[in-house]
Formats: sequence, C-alpha cells, structure tokens
Amino acid sequence: MRGDAGRERWSSALGFIIASIGSAVGIGNIWRFPYIVGANGGGAFLIPYLISVFLFGLPLMMLEFAIGRSTGSSVVSAFKSIRDRLSFAGIAVAIVASLVVSYYLVITSWVLAYALFFATNRPMDFGAFTGSYIPLVFFLLSGIAVFLTVRSGVREGIERVSRILIPVLVVILLFLVVFALTQPGAPDGIAFYLSPDYSRLSDPTVWTAAFGQAFFSLSVGMGVMLTYGSYLEGGNLFRNASVIAVADVLIAILAGFVIFPLVFTAGLDPASGVNLAFITLPAVFLEMRFGMLLGALFFAMLFAAALTSAVSMLEVPVAVMIDSRGYSRKRATLLVTGVIMLLGLPSALSYTALDLRLFGSLLLDLSDYIFGTVGLIIAGLIICMVGGWYMDRARICEELGGCEWQQRAYLVLIRYCVPAVLAITLLATLIQAGG
Ligand code: PFF
Repeated sequence: MRGDAGRERWSSALGFIIASIGSAVGIGNIWRFPYIVGANGGGAFLIPYLISVFLFGLPLMMLEFAIGRSTGSSVVSAFKSIRDRLSFAGIAVAIVASLVVSYYLVITSWVLAYALFFATNRPMDFGAFTGSYIPLVFFLLSGIAVFLTVRSGVREGIERVSRILIPVLVVILLFLVVFALTQPGAPDGIAFYLSPDYSRLSDPTVWTAAFGQAFFSLSVGMGVMLTYGSYLEGGNLFRNASVIAVADVLIAILAGFVIFPLVFTAGLDPASGVNLAFITLPAVFLEMRFGMLLGALFFAMLFAAALTSAVSMLEVPVAVMIDSRGYSRKRATLLVTGVIMLLGLPSALSYTALDLRLFGSLLLDLSDYIFGTVGLIIAGLIICMVGGWYMDRARICEELGGCEWQQRAYLVLIRYCVPAVLAITLLATLIQAGG
C-alpha cells in the first residue's frame, strides 16, 4: 500500500530536500554544535561526530524515509500498517516530537526577540529580558508563525517557507563567516575551536556526546523524516539523505567559524549553553562596529534555522491527527499547536521571575534533558526496531533499490548497530545525569 492518491506531496525532490535540510539545520547546528566541539576535543571531535552522522544517523534517516514513503502515512498509521499492534509505539514517537517542540519553541522565541532587539537598535540584557514577561509575547508570536506555516500545508507552507528561509540562512552564514574570519581574533578563535586534542577520543563521554548531537542535529529519531518521507514520490533515498546530512554537517562546521573568531576578537570567554547565544554573543556584537547589524543578521539566521525545525516537529503530530483521526489540516494544526503551546508554557515561564524548577533544574533545561535527549534516543530506538525488525525485508529493499550486498549491510546496521549505539548513548546519558 502506498497511501492514498489524495495525499499531499512535495512539489519536487528538491522541495523535499530543502524542507528536510530546514528540519535538520536548527539551533543544534548554529549554536549547540560549536560549543560541543570546543568542549570535546576540538578538531578531534569531528572524528566521532562524522562517524556518528554517516554510519548511524544517515541509516536511520534513510529508514525513516523508507517507512514513510512505503506506507505513505504518518508515524502512527505507518507503524500500524507494519504491525497492527505497533500503533502505540507510533503514538509514543509523536508524543516525544510534541514535547520537544514545546520547549524548542521557547528558545525559538528568544531568538526571534533578540533578532528584533538588534534590528531595532534596542539590545536587552538576558537577565532583564527573561525576568520580564516579554518572552511570553515572543513565545506566542513564534507559536503563530509555526501554526501559520504548518496550516498552509506541505507544499504551500512547509516547503515554501523552507525554500525562502534556507537560502537566506546560507547567504547570511557565508557573509558572517567571511566577516568573522577577517577579524583580529580569528586565529585564536579557530585554534580554540578546532585544535585537535586526540587524547579526548579515549573518553567515552566524548563519543556519546557525538552520537547524541548527531541524531539531534539530523532530526532523526522523532518521526520527522518519516513524516516528510510520506510526502515523497520516487527518488534515490541514499542520495537524498546524503545530501541532507552533508548540508547539515557543513552548516554546523561553518557556524563555529563565525562564533569563535567573534568571541575571541571581543576578548571574551567562550561560554557554553544558553550563555553563549544569549549573553556572550550579544556582548560581542555590542562591542563591534556595525554590531547591531551583525547581531540582527546572526539572530535572523538562527531564527530561520529554528523556525523550519520547529515546523517539522509540529508536522509529526499534525500529520497523525490528519491520517489517524481524519481531521482537516486546519483543525489538526489549531488543536496541536494549542496543546503544544500549553505544554511549553511551563518551560517558557521557567526563566522568568517565577523561576520554575523541578529537581533543582529550570524546567526548560529539564525538558531539554528528558525530552530532547533521553526521549529522542528512546523514540529513535523505537523507530529503529519497528523498521528494522518488523518491517518486511523485501519492502525495505524495494525502497532502497535492490537487495544486493549494500542493502544487506544496511540491514545489519539498522537492526544491530544503530540500536546498540542508541542503547549505549541512552545508558551513558542516564549514568552521567545520575553521577
Ligand atoms: N535538528 C534540529 C536542530 O539541529 O536544531 C532539532 C530537531 C528538529 C531535532 C527535529 C529533532 C527533530 F525531529
């Protein structure tokens, strides 16, 4: 069964690839990747990272595309068509996607706020910003932006927005790279970013950091690529997935060439986490000539990246409501966005004066850990097992264009290696949190 003829479709293979790049390229590339590299062995980190992306992340992406395209439906009905009793596993995946987007939208909204602050020449201190209720206004605005995009449909909404924003993002990024590399702090910044410390490769946490970052960055493991694959007709899945993965890696690496030269030029310490994007970088921009323009460009680029990723996560539960419950797209989007905004509200409020915490962590940080890290790995495991173990082997081969040695090797990867890597990453993540 290949889904119904009336199903929405991408306008072309290119439209599908750009939308998938839009999903993959997000906050994870531009802000998270550079500081993870800096903190985990610099250039040496690229070894475990590239292995994770191409040996484990890419096969999982191909599996998601294969499941989506061959069933022609979103994650719950796709799993159900593989085995009747597996629809609950699809529901679990859609719930993880909903929970991740609920807090991802909070960060997206901060990015939007900072883009506007810089564009209007009114920079705001992070403490003052989050201590006020202004973030809630931006949370609402970001919610409306993703709502309108997803409501407009696969082609007219998601694909169109990605076709506009991704080229804009690339142009801004290239401009910022050239600008940053001509600054006086560039050599020190690059030395900090990429000087390889090979001794770190014997540290298992460096490897699990690479696995986690690779899956998150490629947007695999949450049914996004499965859902996007369900709107696809024809094409070589390996080639498409490779283009998406290469673009994702390149954009992540380039982002580091912007961030560290600027931070070192301003003579600041390269921070990590929230501090890097919302405290250190704004301080850098404030010190520079044309800093307002640079800040506006940087945050506009980050917003383009975040929006197209948030949209892709929202599409997972929306597509489920359409396929499994027979909702119209408009109704499904309204309902799902409403629920997600409510789920995100505690995270959005956590950094305000309310200071909402659980087990000592701010709710936003906790959500990132529980849903974005642990949840994503579990959902990835589910997809891997359902696709690798329950889906008909012939069906996978058909999607991958044959049953030669390459496809057989691929099956070994997806049945044994990727689940093993996910399980190890899960264990390591839990142990680290406990210890
Ligand atoms: N890949 C996105 C990023 O790098 O920010 C985040 C993401 C989007 C993760 C969609 C997972 C997902 F399903």
